[in-house]
Amino acid sequence: MSKYQAPYGTQDILPADQPYWRWVIGEAEALSLRYGFLRLDPPLFEDTQIFLKGSGEASDFVVQKEMYTLEKDEGQSITFRPEFTPGVMRAYLEHGLHAGPQPVKLYSIGPIFRHDRPQAGRYRQHTQFNAEIFGEQDPVADLEVMLLAYNLYRDLGYRGLSFQLNSTGCPRCKPAYIARLVEHLSTYAAQLGEVDQIRLSRNPLRILDTKDAGMEPVLSQAPRLLDHLCDECRTHFAELRGYLDVLATPYVINSRLVRGLDYYTKTVFEVWAEGIGAQAAVCGGGRYDGLAEMLGGPPVPGVGFASGIERIILGLKASNIVPAPLPEPPIFVAYLGGGARAKAVEIVFALRDAGLGARLAFGWEPRSLKSQMREAGRLDAAWVIIVGESELTAGQVSVRDMKTSQQFPVPLPDVVPWLQNRLAA
Ligand code: HAM
Repeated sequence: MSKYQAPYGTQDILPADQPYWRWVIGEAEALSLRYGFLRLDPPLFEDTQIFLKGSGEASDFVVQKEMYTLEKDEGQSITFRPEFTPGVMRAYLEHGLHAGPQPVKLYSIGPIFRHDRPQAGRYRQHTQFNAEIFGEQDPVADLEVMLLAYNLYRDLGYRGLSFQLNSTGCPRCKPAYIARLVEHLSTYAAQLGEVDQIRLSRNPLRILDTKDAGMEPVLSQAPRLLDHLCDECRTHFAELRGYLDVLATPYVINSRLVRGLDYYTKTVFEVWAEGIGAQAAVCGGGRYDGLAEMLGGPPVPGVGFASGIERIILGLKASNIVPAPLPEPPIFVAYLGGGARAKAVEIVFALRDAGLGARLAFGWEPRSLKSQMREAGRLDAAWVIIVGESELTAGQVSVRDMKTSQQFPVPLPDVVPWLQNRLAA
């Protein structure tokens, strides 16, 4: 065992788990393209201001000190992205995508860094599938991102999921609501935990979904955001609900769902799933019509979501959903004698060049055929090519069908097409 381990809260994705990763990411990309989203890959790190101004000074990243920030290059501060959204918006503005036809639909997949307290389903490096629609007010855009997430889970085989849905209002209606909420919560300020004390002044809305179970009686008496929406927010929310109903997409109105980022306006949503630890959200997202301006750009409405790939996979495992295994090379090339080795090497590369998966028996020391056949069996090879010195002088090799144990003499120039035919059958 090495004396070093992966850093706390990170994990290695070993070959055994790669079929899940390839499958989930493959489905996410295929679905994104079908919905008309294009891929954008922002850098792993951004100017720290992007997250201070974008995710927000009152976001969990800042309040709970979750950002991985470095001071470099004459005091320039950079932060490894704790989310995609502000960086994708920065790229959209920087490259003038806002000046072209709208809406612009973008998806991204890659690692995210949060100095969280690790536990099941919560890591310091995780991988997000993130999708955004910029430049569209229509609640149909909200519907599109919600269904992109939901239909991904459906296609992967999840059952029984439903959205947690809320509207957090807009700058016209939110401040008056927050004033009422603060008035209510201030009466109970002494009961608030350390983080919620900070939130009371910086982001009181966030107290609504505190993890502190002792706050339940106070919060159940708190005024409801949904009862204080302005006409525009109420209509937007009603239209979105109407579309969800038409498409028979299950959702639960959760008036305490507020999310941990500052930029949300109107719609917010999550999907919760069993089997992914105490952190039950498999995805979260919502609308953020003020984000572009927070980053110094023009007003651009936006809506999106992100889903942690690790959590999707935890949920699949909890539901006993297993992906198809990745294909293994079906051909194994064994050889007997030093003279046959060079020909075996030639054959294995010719097979690969022809698009067939093949492995060569390794071993500097001469190996018995029995030992090589055992290796082929362990690797589950369907066909073994046996290159022997005496056969070579006759210009042929033996090819063994491992299922039937039948062995065929095949002329050397025909080996590749012969196996191509058999494997295509
Ligand atoms: P978020 O809710 O912070 O939203 O994260 C989105 C998803 O990432 C979560 O639902 C969860 O699946 C996964 N996730 C978050 N933190 C961790 C962690 N520490 N370990 C494992 N998985 C995690 C956002 O990031 C927003 N940018 C989403 C968005 C896009 N809103 C609008 N557009």
